[in-house]
Amino acid sequence: MADLDARDIPVDALSRERLSASQLDYRVVDVADPAQLRGFARADARGFLDKEPDDDAIRLMGEMMALRRNIGVYAPGIELPVATVDSWVTPMTVPGAPGAHVDMWAISIVTVAATHRRRGIARNLLEGELRAAAAAGVPIAGLTATEATIYGRYGFGPAIPVAHLRVDARRAGGIRLPVTDALPTVEYLEPEALRKALDEVHERARLGRAGDVPGWPLRWLRMAGLTPGDERSRAVRGVRAVDADGVTRGVLAYTLDMLPDEFGADLAIRHLDAETPEALRALWAFALNHDLIRTVHADLRPLDDPLPWLVADQRAVQTTVHDHGWLRILDVPAALAARAYRTPVDLVLRVTDPLGLAEGSWRLRVDAEGDAVVEATSDAPDVELGVDALSSLYLGGVSAIALWAAGRISASAEAAASIQDAFGTAAAPALTIWY
Ligand SMILES: CC(C)(COP(=O)(O)OP(=O)(O)OC[C@H]1O[C@@H](n2cnc3c(N)ncnc32)[C@H](O)[C@@H]1OP(=O)(O)O)[C@@H](O)C(=O)NCCC(=O)NCCS
Repeated sequence: MADLDARDIPVDALSRERLSASQLDYRVVDVADPAQLRGFARADARGFLDKEPDDDAIRLMGEMMALRRNIGVYAPGIELPVATVDSWVTPMTVPGAPGAHVDMWAISIVTVAATHRRRGIARNLLEGELRAAAAAGVPIAGLTATEATIYGRYGFGPAIPVAHLRVDARRAGGIRLPVTDALPTVEYLEPEALRKALDEVHERARLGRAGDVPGWPLRWLRMAGLTPGDERSRAVRGVRAVDADGVTRGVLAYTLDMLPDEFGADLAIRHLDAETPEALRALWAFALNHDLIRTVHADLRPLDDPLPWLVADQRAVQTTVHDHGWLRILDVPAALAARAYRTPVDLVLRVTDPLGLAEGSWRLRVDAEGDAVVEATSDAPDVELGVDALSSLYLGGVSAIALWAAGRISASAEAAASIQDAFGTAAAPALTIWY
């Protein structure tokens, strides 16, 4: 886990001053105060179009919030905060040896009440988070977004694209795996065992997946269908893939939705995680070979998921690629030096940043081992780009050539190609959770 605790970082003085000019009080929420906790939880539910949380939901939310830095914006005479945000410092896996990571300032629960939108509150929340994180020395910030149009203006770039897979299970023709001693067995799990397996497999598997971050207890409760008051929870089922030594190597949580006009169901994957390709194949085979299934849906799959290569008819798999993990570099030398690269380069990057945090000219030197040294320089730039484009490139999940062709990187074709070669990774980056 990251050494730094976001709860120790005070609110950003500039955002507090700017919001107070509109009689808005921008402050840390005291989660131990039941009224403040209830107000924050209700504002969160309202912002994300959810129904009113009951006492159990508020209690669970409080347990999650206790681990985070929670900020509310309060208007005179209004009980609930008119805006919310929370954050925590978490390791994000980066390209390199297993377990290589960078500390990331994760941002979540960005809401502004419908009565207070479009008057700059979200801008103050986001800028406040970024200034606080940068002042605390955190090299990068990250989030997942409800809409792709909100965060570019603050220097975030979409960095971890993922695939939504929709499989016509009948057309796919099933998955036939060779029966060998190495084929994991698949077993049903009771809800509590499912929760535990989701947590444990994710914690190990994420270390080998650039872009991924740890989950948290409430997330696994939800995925396993253990959150009280959640109507969908009783529909959740789970299985695990166990290797020849009896170790759980993969886990699948899913729901079945009955079809209206025939005896059958659609299978929706809530979470699929595997440490080994064998376990992943076994779980895909479980889902695709299940009786009476019309369609299998899974979101947040890495772009190199093997599923299309497992089924008899690839046209049964509809793949929709969408943005998922957004990153925002705050400290260029620290962020770029935290990851390993595939090929040596020596380039000067001129980075522009609307908040000034990553602004400057930086020489990136990568040696034959893939290790980087990054220093400020006054040399002429080889590459000019915004901090959003650099953040998109960070994990190798976005093509430098595509950004160059789109005019988002100003460089020679050779310099763009050498960024592509150096930043590219063998496996696609992945982020298997929303946060
Ligand atoms: C998205 C949301 C937080 C924006 O709050 P807000 O206080 O209205 O935003 P601001 O007034 O600070 O706007 C800042 C900028 O973002 C733009 N913007 C705000 N919401 C936007 C949206 N949904 N899509 C595109 N642009 C948006 C504004 O036009 C403004 O642009 P500018 O500074 O370049 O002129 C708010 O609409 C909301 O709570 N939505 C529902 C919950 C949600 O989706 N949250 C995001 C979670 S990832």
